[in-house]
Amino acid sequence: METVTGTNLETAAAWLKQGDVVAIPTETVYGLAANALDEKAVVKIFEAKNRPFFDPLIVHVKDREAIHALTTTIEAPLNDLLTAFSPGPITVLLPKNALVPDLTTSGLSHVGIRIPAHPLLRELLQMLSFPLAAPSANPFGYISPTTAAHVMQQLQGKIPYVLDGGRCDVGVESTIVGMEGKEVVIYRAGGISVEAIESVVGKVTLSLNKSSNPLAPGQLATHYAPRKPLYIGHPPELLTQFNGRCAVLSFHTQYTPDTMVLSPTGNLKEAARQLFHALRELDASDCDQIISEVFPNEGLGRAINDRLTRASVR
Ligand code: TXA
Ligand code: MG
Repeated sequence: METVTGTNLETAAAWLKQGDVVAIPTETVYGLAANALDEKAVVKIFEAKNRPFFDPLIVHVKDREAIHALTTTIEAPLNDLLTAFSPGPITVLLPKNALVPDLTTSGLSHVGIRIPAHPLLRELLQMLSFPLAAPSANPFGYISPTTAAHVMQQLQGKIPYVLDGGRCDVGVESTIVGMEGKEVVIYRAGGISVEAIESVVGKVTLSLNKSSNPLAPGQLATHYAPRKPLYIGHPPELLTQFNGRCAVLSFHTQYTPDTMVLSPTGNLKEAARQLFHALRELDASDCDQIISEVFPNEGLGRAINDRLTRASVR
């Protein structure tokens, strides 16, 4: 199959309407999208990505009305979070109704739903009468793509079209939030910080480090990984422990001439935006291993540390 990259919304919509898979830009990372309500189309996502069927997909919708159309209830705190942060990088887990196929949620009673903020994707959703199921557009386990070129590098030949929306603005995936009883639980740190969420709903429970929770394999211990070994710690110490070329990833300190600094001004949002791009570049470089420092565990630093930990050798 020939894969074409372009900015033509009609072309993207046409493929999706006939039940095919198209890579789409979102504000977080690129997604691999298909009609969320069509099992035959959803199967193609799992196949193109080599993704196990037990890993549920996030459903992307245009507005709140579309959320109501797919779910039975929305608990008040989740409703408040949607009001505060949608459109944007937040996914809420809501009890699904019969319209949502079991395949999309891997048999779970809840569906992960979000309203994306990327303008091109929002336009595309307006042209469609169905929501889009979309995981990140990378082979299972590898670094998520933040440009159309990243998608092409890995999925060329497997999908007909990549809708090019430029470089992703947030750079890490959405924050996943649900309820357990009366408690709000965050299952994946992401583009909306824990602090921002707590400013709306008060104290939340973090359930981020389940190493093999079959309910959310984005939480698998090894994920988002480059092919080169990645070690996290204090770079000056780690540098003394390795032979061969070490590339260093840092927040704002130039440890060595080979250091890739994610934000010279020390801005965690900027660092998150650069993270996957930098990891890919280092993975493609001629270094033997990648060393990364630990980021401040606040704001988007939490999502950065989460991705680095899962990508690392332990
Ligand atoms: O920012 C994002 O969320 C991106 C863009 C493309 O929207 N998508 C994304 O999808 O990161 P994916 O499939 O790479 O990660 C989704 C995570 C997985 O860990 C999955 O297990 C979890 O969300 N998830 C999806 N639906 C779920 C559900 N019903 N219950 C529990 N976890 C769910
Ligand atoms: Mg993913």
